[in-house]
Amino acid sequence: MQKMHTALIGLQWGDEGKGKLIDYLANSFDCIARYQGGANAGHTVIYKNKKISLHLVPSGIFHPQKICIIGNGVVIDIKQLEKELKELSEMNINFENRFFISKRAHIIQPKHFIIEKEIAKEIGTTGRAIGPAYADKIIRKGIRMCDILNDDYLRSRGISRNFIEDLINFKKNYGHFIADTVELLHQFNEERKRILFEGAQGVMLDIDFGTYPFVTSSNPTTGGILTGTGIPPFFISRIIGVTKAYTTRVGKGPFPTEMGKTQQDIIREKGDEYGATTGRPRRCGWLDLVAIKFAIKITGTTELAISKIDVLDNMEEIKLATEYKINGELTDRFPPESWKLENVEPVYKVFPGWIKTKGIKKQNDLPKEAKEYLRFIEDSAGIKVSLISNGNKRSDLIGD
Ligand code: GDP
Ligand code: IMO
Ligand code: MG
Repeated sequence: MQKMHTALIGLQWGDEGKGKLIDYLANSFDCIARYQGGANAGHTVIYKNKKISLHLVPSGIFHPQKICIIGNGVVIDIKQLEKELKELSEMNINFENRFFISKRAHIIQPKHFIIEKEIAKEIGTTGRAIGPAYADKIIRKGIRMCDILNDDYLRSRGISRNFIEDLINFKKNYGHFIADTVELLHQFNEERKRILFEGAQGVMLDIDFGTYPFVTSSNPTTGGILTGTGIPPFFISRIIGVTKAYTTRVGKGPFPTEMGKTQQDIIREKGDEYGATTGRPRRCGWLDLVAIKFAIKITGTTELAISKIDVLDNMEEIKLATEYKINGELTDRFPPESWKLENVEPVYKVFPGWIKTKGIKKQNDLPKEAKEYLRFIEDSAGIKVSLISNGNKRSDLIGD
C-alpha cells in the first residue's frame, strides 16, 4: 500500500503564498485536498494572467485532470461555494467528476453570521462566521453536508424555512459533488495516486498553537489533516512548510517583529499586501525565526518553501529575528502566554540587501547576499529550502 503523500502548511499568520505554490505543485499530484478552515481563506492563483482568489475550492482546480476535495474538517458557506463554482464555470473550468465535497463537512448557518458580528471586532476576524460554525460543530448542533441529501431529516433539524430552501437548491445544483471523501482518499491511496493536502491559514493562527485568542477556530497544523480528511498519520511523508521571506499578519494580536510604519508601507506596496478575502491592509514585519522554528517543530515540516523573496529586492538591509528578549531575559522559545508575546523585544541579525531575485530560475544564480540570507534560515531551521518563489506567477519558482 502506498503512503507517500505531501502536505503544504503555512508557518506564519496565513497568506504565505499557499495558493500559488499549490497551483505550481499540483502538476506533480493527482489529488489536492483542503482539510480545515473555510472561506476565511483567500488563496490567490494567477490563471491566464488573471488574479483569482479561491476561498473554498482547492487551488489545484485549474489543472484539468486533477481531483479536488473539500475534506470534512472544512466549514462550508454554501453561498460562497456556489459563487466560486459559478465563477470557475464562467472561466470554462470543468470540474465535473473531479470535485468532491465531504458528506461530513459542516455547513455555516445564517445564525452564525449574527454571532460572528460580536467576535469580528474583538479578534479582527474575516467576518466569515468561521468561529460560530466550529462552535456549533463541537457542541453537536451542526448541520452536515450529508444532511441536505435527506429533506425529511433536514426539516427535523429546526432550521428556518428560508435556509432549508437554500440548502435544497444547493442540493439540486451541486448535490452530486457530495461524497464520502474518506473512502475516496483511501481508494486513491490504494490506486497509487498522489495526494497533496492544502493547508489554510497558518501555524500562528492555529486554535491550539497560535497566538490565542487572536487565532482562527481550526487546526492548520498537521493534526488537522488527519481529523480533517480521515487519513492516518503514516500517509504523510513530506511536509512543506511555507513562509514568506518576511512576515505579515491581518487582524489583531501580537506580532513581535512588526516593522515601523514607514517600513511597513514600503513592504505593503511592494508585496501588494492586502487581504485576499477582506481587502484589509496586512501588517508587515521581518522574518521571525523564533516563530518559524516553533512552527517547524509543531508541524514536522520536512522542507521549507520561501515565498515573495522578490519583495525584498533592492533593500539596503534586511533584518531577521533570531531570539526574543522578554522582561530582560533572552529566549529562542515561542511563549504560550499572550502577555509575554505582547512584550517581546526581538533580537535581530542584520543582513546586507541584494539587487534582484526576480526572474532568476536557479538557486545558484541568486545574488550572494540572498544566498547568505537563505543559508542562515536553513542552518537555523535545520532543514533545506527546497522551493523559492520570486513572483506571483506559476513560473516564478526556483526549485532545488
Ligand atoms: P495564501 O493565502 O497563502 O494562498 O496567500 P495569499 O494568496 O492570500 O497572498 C499571497 C499574495 O502574494 C497573493 O497576492 C499572491 O499572488 C502573491 N504572491 C505569491 N507568491 C509570490 C511571490 O513569490 N512574489 C510576489 N511578489 N507575490 C507573490
Ligand atoms: P489564508 O488561508 C490570513 C485571521 C483573521 C483573524 C483571525 C481569525 O488565506 O492564509 P477567522 O475569520 O478565521 O475567525 O479570523 O485569523 N485569518 C487569516 N489571516 N490568512 C488567512 O487565510 C486567514 N484566515 C483567518 O484575519 O485575525
Ligand atoms: Mg490568503
